Amino acid sequence: MGIVFNSTAKTITLHTKNTSYQMKTGNLDYLLHLYYGPSIRDTDMSYQIMQYDRGFSGNPYESRDARTFSLDAQPQEFSTQQQGDFRTPSIEVVNSDGSYSFHGKAVNYKIIKGKYNLDTLPAAFAADKDTADTLEVVLLDRVSNVEITLLYGVFEEADIITRAVRVKNLGSRSIRLKRIMSVCLDFLNGADMDLVSFPGRYGQERQVERQHINHHIHTIGSVRGSSSHQQNPFVILCDRSATEDYGKCYGFSLMYSGNFLTEAELDQYDQLRLVMGIHPRQFVYELKPQEVFEGPEVVMAFTEHGFTGLSHLYHDFYRTNLCKSKFVTEVQRPVLINSWEAAFMDFDDVKLVNIAKAAKNMGVDLFVMDDGWFGKRDDDNSGLGDWFVNENKIKCGLHRLVEQINGLDMKFGIWFEPEMVSEDSDLYRAHPEWVMQIPGRHAVRSRNQLALDMSRQDVQDYLIEKVNAILDNANIYYVKWDINRSLADIWSNKIPAERQGEVYHRYILGLYRVMDNIIKTHPDILFEGCSGGGGRYDAAMLHYYPQYWVSDNNHPIDRLKLHYGTSFVYPTCTMGAHISDSGKFVPLETKAIVAMCGTFGYELDATQLNKKQQKICKKQSDLFRKYYHITFKGDYYRLTNPFEDGNFTAWMHVTKNKREALVSAVVTNLTCNGPQEYIKAKGLKPDTFYRINKEKTVYSGAALMNAGIPIPREVPEYSAFQFHLKAVNKQ
Ligand code: GLA
Repeated sequence: MGIVFNSTAKTITLHTKNTSYQMKTGNLDYLLHLYYGPSIRDTDMSYQIMQYDRGFSGNPYESRDARTFSLDAQPQEFSTQQQGDFRTPSIEVVNSDGSYSFHGKAVNYKIIKGKYNLDTLPAAFAADKDTADTLEVVLLDRVSNVEITLLYGVFEEADIITRAVRVKNLGSRSIRLKRIMSVCLDFLNGADMDLVSFPGRYGQERQVERQHINHHIHTIGSVRGSSSHQQNPFVILCDRSATEDYGKCYGFSLMYSGNFLTEAELDQYDQLRLVMGIHPRQFVYELKPQEVFEGPEVVMAFTEHGFTGLSHLYHDFYRTNLCKSKFVTEVQRPVLINSWEAAFMDFDDVKLVNIAKAAKNMGVDLFVMDDGWFGKRDDDNSGLGDWFVNENKIKCGLHRLVEQINGLDMKFGIWFEPEMVSEDSDLYRAHPEWVMQIPGRHAVRSRNQLALDMSRQDVQDYLIEKVNAILDNANIYYVKWDINRSLADIWSNKIPAERQGEVYHRYILGLYRVMDNIIKTHPDILFEGCSGGGGRYDAAMLHYYPQYWVSDNNHPIDRLKLHYGTSFVYPTCTMGAHISDSGKFVPLETKAIVAMCGTFGYELDATQLNKKQQKICKKQSDLFRKYYHITFKGDYYRLTNPFEDGNFTAWMHVTKNKREALVSAVVTNLTCNGPQEYIKAKGLKPDTFYRINKEKTVYSGAALMNAGIPIPREVPEYSAFQFHLKAVNKQ
């Protein structure tokens, strides 16, 4: 059992293979956080907390004359509100008497075999062989009768701990929740830590930023209604000296697709607090007596082995404990071609079939019809919401089109953007009240479209019916689920005035309900998420969809950074990556090598490729399939940092048994008469000998890791290399 209660010390310790996490019911029944880091066995870690009088930091009344106990200086599992802790709170609740106060004391705890589940939100699950346990700790405010249940999921083997929170109103009148954080983690000494985050923008998602934490509140979050292009709900706290290979790193990955907030505060005593949860901006949630609110799950990991060690923990966990799609484990992902950059919205059935025919020569398994097939949709000003086939374009009908594609021995995929509506659409004309729009004001337009009010059950039911009808009407193998704007005008005409602060969150709950229904009704369909590229690439989306479109930016050199940033938490098998016309001077082979750091496919007009180019593509599609067991199931290593100066970017994948590896490198800059450069491999067995690309010579893992592989010289611009390493001896 990974959870141990020590009745003498009153500590509860969560044990994973290499880490410990400890809390304790301390003075006056406050739940103190004692430790998270490398395993400490069952040591009572409360010896670290020194009690001394700290001027201007208040003391709870019950401590009588003792001035040495202050919540302002205690490390806590769930920081309070208006109780003398002036640091970042975990909760802000307006009680029925109008007071802003939460004073939770530990009253109960429960250890349960197996992993908890959430009723309204996605959560990680225990795969068959996992040992997973749950700890529930109940905090009660005896005056307001607000009860908080802190949930902990302990995945011993995976070295992962999840947290979530439930709020219950046990009182007899309504309360209003204005802030609820899913995780609060206090460090007694946080002066030497850095915060790594993943900011970006459209076309440049998840770039990497590292900042030293100093004495203020570092805020990372989104108020765009989605997890966003601009920030990602994943952060790392690490030692100041942490690198790819060494150093302590803590990861926090929030399983939520809406507004989120992470705050890291270094306090007056150099203690560090990190909180993460739903963004409190325009969030006010009413809880009537006996009602429960769930906060989303945070997946936490700790390692002493630098960023690579942390990425490996997340990659392994997200490959087995996040998404139940059969495409995660049982069925190999197809090589696809998507019509978007080939035809945009200017196509008919004949053009699509011709692209598919040409793509057949390129080793493509799946043809995807992107935006433009439904309603009246010749440009992006109309048609969204009308989820029926436009037979002026698809003259033969969807069923027949799919039959023709299937006749080429290819599967068929289709695009939707269910959450959106165009003003020029039958849906909007019939139901203008279904959009989010503030009464008396014009709605903000973005890509000339409006957002449907996903908090309404009638909207959800409409989408479930329409999308399912299309999926049932033809042999559809794949769905791309897009959303192409941020949310504004947050207002629902189904919700009373005083509860409009719930709409942001209810939108997300409605979205999850729709996705859950469609996915469960069609378990054999491969779903890919998309949001104007990678604007909603988060763990919650990956709970539903096994893959997500990384970015609309297909330029292979930009992609090096995009894949690098994304890889810190999300594994290769989740990263939608295609070869397109973008990158005029970049060879096809290079584009393919870059796309093999993801789900691999094409996004171009295949009919425009000549025989030679099609042949190159065929070879690359075959290589993707050949290396699938390495790239999708192996360990991923970032070998260089594309954000730093350097003449090449390299990465590699190594099978779990270390008998095979694929080293990939792209030359990003050619220097005249420059020094010889080497790609230093990682993750190999030092004493094992490897053959490279079937050449005669063999090299020890130690040689390849310490001296490296020389990068060939005198190559054309943007050349790329793939070195397939295969072990030759038995060790
Ligand atoms: C978004 C997606 C693209 C494409 C277009 C269609 O921008 O990211 O891949 O599907 O929408 O409108």
